[in-house]
Amino acid sequence: MAVQYYEKQRIFKLDTQHTSYIMAVVDKENFLGHVYYGGRLEDYDLTYLLRLGEKPFVPSENNRERCSFMDSFPAEYAGHGLGDYRDGCISVRTKGGHSAINLTVVSHEIYGGKKRLEGLPATFGTEQECSTLEIHCEDAVLGLQVTLMYTVFEDVDAITRSVKVTNEAKEEIYLTKVLSACLDMDNREFERITLHGSWARERHIQRQPIGYGKYAVSSLRGEPGHQEHPFMALAVRGTTQDVGEVYAMNFVYSGNFLAQEEMSQFGSVRMSMGINPEDFCWRLDPQESFQAPEVVLVYSAEGLGGMTRSFHDLYRKHLIRSPYRDKKRPVLINNWEATYFEFDTDKLIGIAKQAAELGIEMLVMDDGWFGKRNFDDCALGDWQVNEEKLKGGLKYLVDEVNKLGMKFGIWFEPEMISPDSELYRAHPDWAFQIPGRTPGMSREQYVLDLSRKEVRDYIYECVAKILHSANIEYVKWDMNRSLCDIGSIGFPADRQGELYHRYVLAVYEMQERLITDFPQLLLENCSGGGARFDPGMLYYSPQIWCSDDADAVERLMIQEGTSLIYPLSTMGAHVSDCPNHVVGRVTPFETRGYVALAGTFGYELDVTRISEEDRNMIPEQVAMYHKYNDLVREGDYYRLASYGENHCYDCYEVVSKDKKEALVTYIQVLNIPNCHSRRIYLRGLEAAAEYKVEGMEGVYRGETLMKAGIQVEILAGDFRGKLISVKRSSKAS
Ligand code: DGJ
Repeated sequence: MAVQYYEKQRIFKLDTQHTSYIMAVVDKENFLGHVYYGGRLEDYDLTYLLRLGEKPFVPSENNRERCSFMDSFPAEYAGHGLGDYRDGCISVRTKGGHSAINLTVVSHEIYGGKKRLEGLPATFGTEQECSTLEIHCEDAVLGLQVTLMYTVFEDVDAITRSVKVTNEAKEEIYLTKVLSACLDMDNREFERITLHGSWARERHIQRQPIGYGKYAVSSLRGEPGHQEHPFMALAVRGTTQDVGEVYAMNFVYSGNFLAQEEMSQFGSVRMSMGINPEDFCWRLDPQESFQAPEVVLVYSAEGLGGMTRSFHDLYRKHLIRSPYRDKKRPVLINNWEATYFEFDTDKLIGIAKQAAELGIEMLVMDDGWFGKRNFDDCALGDWQVNEEKLKGGLKYLVDEVNKLGMKFGIWFEPEMISPDSELYRAHPDWAFQIPGRTPGMSREQYVLDLSRKEVRDYIYECVAKILHSANIEYVKWDMNRSLCDIGSIGFPADRQGELYHRYVLAVYEMQERLITDFPQLLLENCSGGGARFDPGMLYYSPQIWCSDDADAVERLMIQEGTSLIYPLSTMGAHVSDCPNHVVGRVTPFETRGYVALAGTFGYELDVTRISEEDRNMIPEQVAMYHKYNDLVREGDYYRLASYGENHCYDCYEVVSKDKKEALVTYIQVLNIPNCHSRRIYLRGLEAAAEYKVEGMEGVYRGETLMKAGIQVEILAGDFRGKLISVKRSSKAS
């Protein structure tokens, strides 16, 4: 049983295959303490770890030092304003203006499976796949009931947490902070791992030792943003890809977030995660509930690689719902970098014809097909086909593309409105705005006030009408600016603090409608590249555009950071034009193909205008994709070398679940003069099985390839790459 309650000792124990998570109810007041999270244990009563026998002792024994107790107790879900001076998980504003809250345990339930989180994306599993514990807590003074929810996914070594707050009082209460999880631990010389970046360089890995005080990554952009990521890991110093312990949190949410660690005076560390409390204030009327989104917890004793593989497995099996989840995605060609806004039916058909001959399977028409949109400064919201550009209409174009044997996909940016649009002229109040202020533009656009039902319904229906009008099999849902000027005429003054969250709920509602009404649609989320690459979006779309930067070198770091958490099958990756439109770098077509192979694979260039040499490579690349995509999409990922760390070369490996096959991608960014071949140690193979390595004579046992490694020749020139296929020799399999 993955969830146990030991009644006598009042202990909860959650077990996955390799981890245990222990909590205890203590003292007469029923405080909930965090006892242990780590490698799997058979013992369950570890309450000595709570140090209750040490000063200041529990309040029932020494109420004189109650605040000292509160300030040092490892709280499972920390309150606020009652003696714990570290940052808590929850705070309120009562009618009387008070903010304090503390939770004590009332009851609990344990059941197989997992309930849906109303209106929110969340992991899922059957009774056979997961078990759930709900601990019902209360603050009796406030009349608030708070349920802490834990779901244990045994097979993938992950635990998810979320929180539901219900107002049982007679009057309204304002929630000013509701985080979804916290972990109070003793410091173990932790190093913090977070992901940072900017437009065109998203999710670069940062690793730093922790110290006293607080460190937070957060967003107030209404989306996670290019800059910060809703992820934090604490790794015991020296943890590598293969060995060492790591605790990680990832937020299943696509809006403002806070991820924080705080080291206290006693050297304990509180890691917490949830909706950013800044600009958050939720009015909860009597009997109403507020459901906080979910945080995924992963503990790995097998280094960062173990953590990565748990996240990948959890997301592939228990988060992504799309029918494409376990399928090859069509190799697409997107016209953005090929044409930008300068296209018409003939140009697109010209690209499609050439692409079809080369084996490309889908044409995606990007921004610029609607309203008067000939540049990025107008027409968002006018979701009517521009028939001056698309002569003969959309259906004609789609049919022509279909006749070539290709699928057709289309771009939308449903959440936005251009000041220069028919929609804005008709409904200026549909943009978020604060009375008396002119909203700030970004890319010359405003954000639609999707918190209002009539606004989101109108936009959704426009999108649906286009999708019904032709055989459209793919949608790229883009979002090209962050939120600001948050104000809505749809809500009273005391609900304006709900808007950021309501906006995210609205996006979820619209995407849920979309995938329900068009169940076979392949949806790819995107936000000016990768500003909204998060587990929340994966619940709706099996893939997300990783970055507007498809330069083969920059992508190594973006894709390394992204794949630290997210399966390769989710990373939108294309071979794009050269010199690269963002960095101006020229890299070989072949190398761009190897780098894009780590993701969904496609093209982002004018296939009619590239060199013949490059064009001739496309059929081979398409064949390479078809040969390896099952392995890349479903296999176990191992990072063998990081260009971000060594500034010289990059190497990763994907091993099939049955360990019969592996693929190593090696990218030599810079050549080094007068150098020997490079030793690469493979991972994840069956130690006693024999394997054949492409380009090497003989067969070797898995243990040899892992312990002694293989030699990879130095390639002539910079930005070169190669794939090395490893197969179990037929004799042994
Ligand atoms: C940002 C996306 O990331 C690009 O791929 C492209 O779709 C543009 N928006 C279009 O405006």
